[in-house]
Amino acid sequence: MIPDIISVDELTPTQAEMELERLSKEIARHDRAYHTLSAPLISDAAYDQLTRRNAAIEARFPHLIRADSPSRKVGGQASDGFGKIRHAAPMLSLDNAFEDQDVHDFIGRLRRFLGLTEDQPVELVAEPKIDGLSISLRYEQGRFVQGATRGDGEVGEDVTRNLLAMAQIPRTLENAPDVVEVRGEVYMSKADFLSLNERQAALGEKPFANPRNAAAGSLRQLDPQITATRSLSLFAYAMGECSQNLAPTHWDFLTCLKNWGFPVNPLIRRCSGADELLAFYAAIGNGRADLGYDIDGVVYKVNRLDWQERLGMKERSPRWAIAHKFPAEQARTRLLAIHISVGRTGVLTPWAELEPINVGGVLVSRATLHNEDDIATKDIRAGDWVIVQRAGDVIPQVVGPAPGTERGPRDFSMRDALGGDRPACPICGSHAIRLEGEAKWRCSGGLICPAQATERLIHFASRDAFDIEGLGEKNVQFLWDKEYVRAPAALFRLEETNRDRLQKLENFDGWGKRSVEKLFEAIRARSTIALDRLIYALGIPQVGIATAKRLARHYHTAQAWIQAMRDAADPAAEAYADLLSIEDIGPAVSQEIIDFFTEDHNRQAVDDLLKTIMVEEMQPQAASASAIAGKSVVFTGTLTTMTRQEAKARAEAMGARVVGSVSKKTDFVVAGAEPGSKVTDALKLGVPVLSEQEWALLE
Ligand code: IVH
Repeated sequence: MIPDIISVDELTPTQAEMELERLSKEIARHDRAYHTLSAPLISDAAYDQLTRRNAAIEARFPHLIRADSPSRKVGGQASDGFGKIRHAAPMLSLDNAFEDQDVHDFIGRLRRFLGLTEDQPVELVAEPKIDGLSISLRYEQGRFVQGATRGDGEVGEDVTRNLLAMAQIPRTLENAPDVVEVRGEVYMSKADFLSLNERQAALGEKPFANPRNAAAGSLRQLDPQITATRSLSLFAYAMGECSQNLAPTHWDFLTCLKNWGFPVNPLIRRCSGADELLAFYAAIGNGRADLGYDIDGVVYKVNRLDWQERLGMKERSPRWAIAHKFPAEQARTRLLAIHISVGRTGVLTPWAELEPINVGGVLVSRATLHNEDDIATKDIRAGDWVIVQRAGDVIPQVVGPAPGTERGPRDFSMRDALGGDRPACPICGSHAIRLEGEAKWRCSGGLICPAQATERLIHFASRDAFDIEGLGEKNVQFLWDKEYVRAPAALFRLEETNRDRLQKLENFDGWGKRSVEKLFEAIRARSTIALDRLIYALGIPQVGIATAKRLARHYHTAQAWIQAMRDAADPAAEAYADLLSIEDIGPAVSQEIIDFFTEDHNRQAVDDLLKTIMVEEMQPQAASASAIAGKSVVFTGTLTTMTRQEAKARAEAMGARVVGSVSKKTDFVVAGAEPGSKVTDALKLGVPVLSEQEWALLE
């Protein structure tokens, strides 16, 4: 940050740009405190000083005036959509456990990571898993200043005004730290859900499918007055950013929340060991139907907060907690037909068209059938009465024929369904093949198959990729059919090339002027993108989000990554060894990436895309203040102060890349007791070798 003492006349353009960004945020924060919360954080004079400084800098550097500059705002809250809020600490999701064994494994993992001895117990806190939507409530100087939905975990929606319509949310906290974020679940009770649906019906409005949807729909109302008419409830259960240590344990933290006036679930218990957790799970499961609200499992959390800290997090979920889900909800219905869809990599997947049925509150009319071997094993035929199940947010599945019911006439075969002697892709008619030793059939059409191309575009725009709101299956298909968009780059040129034509569609197939404008806006908003999202968006087989993140962290820029992937096509090249040195990237994944870039049309599509977007450089994970940020580290031998797993996790948390083997690019090797050949390799290559103690000092 630029200190206020630098006078406006002395600012360099870069400093001015940074300062304008800071001021726009700062002023927006005070606007919200003043207008929305009626709780100003600073005096009017201090506020005026900020706006005057903003105006003075803008007068000197007019080309740096921001689109969201406070000088351009008319005041009040934007009415079109919610503002976005970047969470100070990410809002994580939870790994799932389904079987008892998964819970034992979880405890085993905790013990191994922390290096606990047999006689050291691990205490956990067991909580019902509330089926609502998670939110983050921010308090500064003891005042509620901001509330946000989870969004993608990193950026959520500003629903402050809507949350203020909920009486259960404390407006002020006594003896609170300067900054504290409280996280919890907003939900609707079963009774409130039923009466809301009655009112909806009386008004001729669509009913909500389940209490979770009703809660989400009620909170995410642009008009907070509507939220105020819906009964929403809260359970608080976790902490986000906090400027001060509040308690030594999660249990004590929950007590602190209760004292502040937050509703905390009364069924929460402390447990030690897997048996006590499983007893809690059984008891809550038995009482589930009698609870006034929906739960979909229980959550186990390590009680000691210092241990939570040491355990840290993986990509998106903490190592110190797990959700133990209740078994899937099931229902019986008729399987009307088996169809085949074509995925983005050409895999042909059978799916079931079902007589629509309500499964645990959600209307289900399709289910996946995986592949033909699976259909044969489960013995499923078109025309059967079948059992359908939904587990959590997973796509519905067909379990098998309902016992004692009449069977459909014929066994299913992919070959027959694809046309018999000359099996063909149902979309493009290209030859369909089943590779030897594989359960999957594939369309050989590659680029000429429109299904693959549209699936790739859908993936490109999906939430973890470019996250372009409004570009789901239907709209991508539409843009494809009209030939407006046939490759990713064309999306970013859409406004330039097809604005008029799209504007003229006027409510054709749901495309009104407003939705077209919104789509352009959403695309523009994503024309600067994080490198890991770009890599994931390309849809390279086997490159999921976690792998994309690792690649982005390793190569930092799009150019460096692409060049390295091209170089890696030569197995003797150093680029290939370097690619393989990345954690969890083995020969199979490497080959997929290399193959992708060997295809001319892929290279061209990527080059073309890069002309239309900006890719952010991937920063090392943690503050670059850490001495090891951005460095590549190899661990070898037995460490004495912590487990290898914990050492790796901590190095990564400080921004280092932990790699498996030593190469010229390795920055240093950390050697514990009885190190292996990696130390010899390091010495040969001139890579520094540190003892465990020397490494500890680097932090
Ligand atoms: S703790 C880092 N506790 O479950 C831990 N989550 O599947 C953050 N949820 O996104 C979550 N009840 O929306 C936690 N007692 C509870 C919960 C709970 C419901 C939700 C929450 C979270 C999701 C993860």
